[in-house]
Amino acid sequence: MPAQKSLWEQLTWTWRPETTREAGDSIVRNLLLHWFPAKATRRSISFGYSFWLGTISAALFFVLSITGLILMFLYVPSVERAYQSVKDIEFAVSYGWFIRALHRIAAQLMVAIVALHLIRAFLCGAYKNGTAANQNRPLNWIIGLTLLLITFFLSFTGYLLPWDQLAYWAITVGTNIASAAPLVGDQMRFVLLGGNQIDQNTLLRFYVLHCFFLPTLVLLLFSWHMWRVRKDGGLACVDGLALAQRREPFAPAKAKTYSLLGITKGRTVHVETSLADFDRLTVDSSPHLMRRLLLVSLATVLVCSLLALFVAAPLEEPANPRVTPNPAKAPWYFLWLQELVTDTTLRIGDFTINGALIGGIILPGVLVVVLALWPFFDRSSVNAVGVWFASERKAQNTVFLIGFAIVLILTVLGTFLRGPSWRFYWPWESWPQSPTRF
Ligand code: HEM
Repeated sequence: MPAQKSLWEQLTWTWRPETTREAGDSIVRNLLLHWFPAKATRRSISFGYSFWLGTISAALFFVLSITGLILMFLYVPSVERAYQSVKDIEFAVSYGWFIRALHRIAAQLMVAIVALHLIRAFLCGAYKNGTAANQNRPLNWIIGLTLLLITFFLSFTGYLLPWDQLAYWAITVGTNIASAAPLVGDQMRFVLLGGNQIDQNTLLRFYVLHCFFLPTLVLLLFSWHMWRVRKDGGLACVDGLALAQRREPFAPAKAKTYSLLGITKGRTVHVETSLADFDRLTVDSSPHLMRRLLLVSLATVLVCSLLALFVAAPLEEPANPRVTPNPAKAPWYFLWLQELVTDTTLRIGDFTINGALIGGIILPGVLVVVLALWPFFDRSSVNAVGVWFASERKAQNTVFLIGFAIVLILTVLGTFLRGPSWRFYWPWESWPQSPTRF
């Protein structure tokens, strides 16, 4: 840094580098920015390739962490006081209603956006390795899938905390489905609930999982996820660019070795630096990538805040184990499972086929395993890496989209068309005033 710069200029040089040299330095020397590459391809930072869905997921996680920390100062994880403390946050604490609504909206959006990010990565064939050596994109796909499952569980554990009727019965339905798992189902439910029923033990377990273990796990896996994106040579679309240039001869860059805290070692993949027309295809990460990163994150915070102003977080009557609401529904992102359980429960004479086992455990279990193994069975060529709807992967994308459509239809069915006793009602049919079951 030139000595004549003012303190303000020194503080802001990362964001407003004046030369290419300064732009490179600003990435390498900044503690927060050094995990980004000094140069980024125009394609990877375009809005139309990734839709920045991964970044939006990370921004939502950031919003959740900040609002969650504030809520922790006010919430009491005890069955006697939890409901009242949430009521206080909602009605007595200044702007408590806003922080709670923001937390809730960001949580719902995170589930949806992470799922969309998975869909985007699949449709682009972003789990596939290109031609560079040492890539391991299938591993990053599996890390991502684990992040999705943890996101579901993170949201699910938060659902119980207000300790109202909605929370209590949604968790009852959810954990009942889980208990249908063969051999270990009951034990799993016992460990999760801290007993045979939802009580103080459950609340404390869910609280610790929700506020400490699961967020820490997300943070660790997310760091690994990002580190792998770097080591795999950037986003998958970069491979397409590199491949298009293979026709022009160029000298391969030297590979460097790397190590992460000495735990894992390998050799870098120089996909980006092997681009022949490097200058035309890339821009300095600072300020171009940073500016978009900031813009996407601010837009995420803004959208969540606006939604929180208008959509209040629900709070029903206090939890009452003796009063079952009818219908009792799982959280919306598990309603396709609840629907599947109903649809696979078949009675033939005295014989009943257990829907909780088939629809609640076996089918979703198979779905997760198929998704995790998909990259290893995808035989399409490198031309289909990082390309939206590549013609070579047409059949795969069609199967995937049909699967997604089924999950979507089941979710809509469970959310809007299932009334008391889980009976089917068209949107124009009114639900009978069903007595609550005791
Ligand atoms: C908490 C959840 C997650 C976060 C915060 C996250 C974050 C990110 C970010 C910031 C990127 C960089 C590019 C982009 O913005 O799209 C990325 C890339 C990627 N993510 Fe995720 N991700 C998450 C979950 C997932 C899931 C569920 C999957 C799929 C199973 C996945 C698979 C991938 C893949 C394959 C890439 C590389 C994309 C490419 O090369 O085009 N991620 N992720």
